[in-house]
Amino acid sequence: MTRVSLRGAILAATTTLDRAGVPSPGVDAEELAAHLLGAPRTRLGMTPLVEDTWVSTYQALVAQRAERVPLQHLVGSVQFGRAELTVGPGVFIPRPETESLLEWALAAIAGITAPVVIDLCAGSGAIALGISAARPDARVIAVERYPAALAWARRNIVKHIDGGGSRVELRGGDIADQRLLADLDGIADLVTANPPYVPDGTAVEPEVEKFDPPEAVFGGPDGLDVIKPLISVAAGLLKVGGVLAIEHDDSHGEVVPALLRARRVLTDVADHNDLTLRPRFVTATRVRMSQARPATGPTGAVVPADSSATDKTGTGS
Ligand SMILES: C[S@@+](CC[C@H](N)C(=O)[O-])C[C@H]1O[C@@H](n2cnc3c(N)ncnc32)[C@H](O)[C@@H]1O
Repeated sequence: MTRVSLRGAILAATTTLDRAGVPSPGVDAEELAAHLLGAPRTRLGMTPLVEDTWVSTYQALVAQRAERVPLQHLVGSVQFGRAELTVGPGVFIPRPETESLLEWALAAIAGITAPVVIDLCAGSGAIALGISAARPDARVIAVERYPAALAWARRNIVKHIDGGGSRVELRGGDIADQRLLADLDGIADLVTANPPYVPDGTAVEPEVEKFDPPEAVFGGPDGLDVIKPLISVAAGLLKVGGVLAIEHDDSHGEVVPALLRARRVLTDVADHNDLTLRPRFVTATRVRMSQARPATGPTGAVVPADSSATDKTGTGS
């Protein structure tokens, strides 16, 4: 058996991934090596030499990444806030940009003891588990429609609880199904959501096109098919003073806040950038019906009380 330089193997892998158009070839080459060695990426320097049989296994993994299989599928997990999530085919891979929403959400409930948190469109359970891991006193309810994603969420919740985490409730169904969440009306301190929002037909990276479930990514012709009903649902779930945070496409930095401003029971509507400084999520606060301000249309014009902007959830919003 021959021992060869790990650094040399990683450099060759970086070239392969670069030629395949992988956006961060050096990082991915190192991550795959670290995964195979069972060591953190920062400790790769501790292993100067590897067996040539190890290099063969490594090259096979690199070849899959060159085929644009997501790094997270190859290593099997992704860190999201304090939660480590298992991911694979059939579930959306949590993105770093959603951590901005998670941070905002945790700050929003920082002063509330045992807050009730509802995460709509939960996927792997990323946001729900990110919150539960940081706030074990929270009652967290995660809602997801699609069976494959639900299976991953269930797996992650079990792992979280087995690791000493608090219980997280998982509900399977469409967020727009009024029976599914009827018992939660008006009780949430916080509603979070990262729904599918990419307009149909938008060009996406091969990893997204081939491996993220389309129902997790695309939100209809204008990307708003799920967000529109979700805003009504979220408003109905919030208690007075409760807050919501909804992620959106970076092209929706105006239109999604306008949809929230059209809801008379939502106030303090604000849009936020992600770590790459792109418009990424919108937040708002639920007010009492008697405090409800006139709703405004997309141009800021006051919308008449009988307009379609009034509540469809039966919560009087
Ligand atoms: C962009 S992924 C987000 C997953 C997770 N929250 C995250 O941030 O990684 C959107 C998720 O919403 C789910 N979904 C889509 N439409 C839904 C609906 N009408 N009701 C419930 N879940 C839905 C998809 O299956 C997918 O898992």
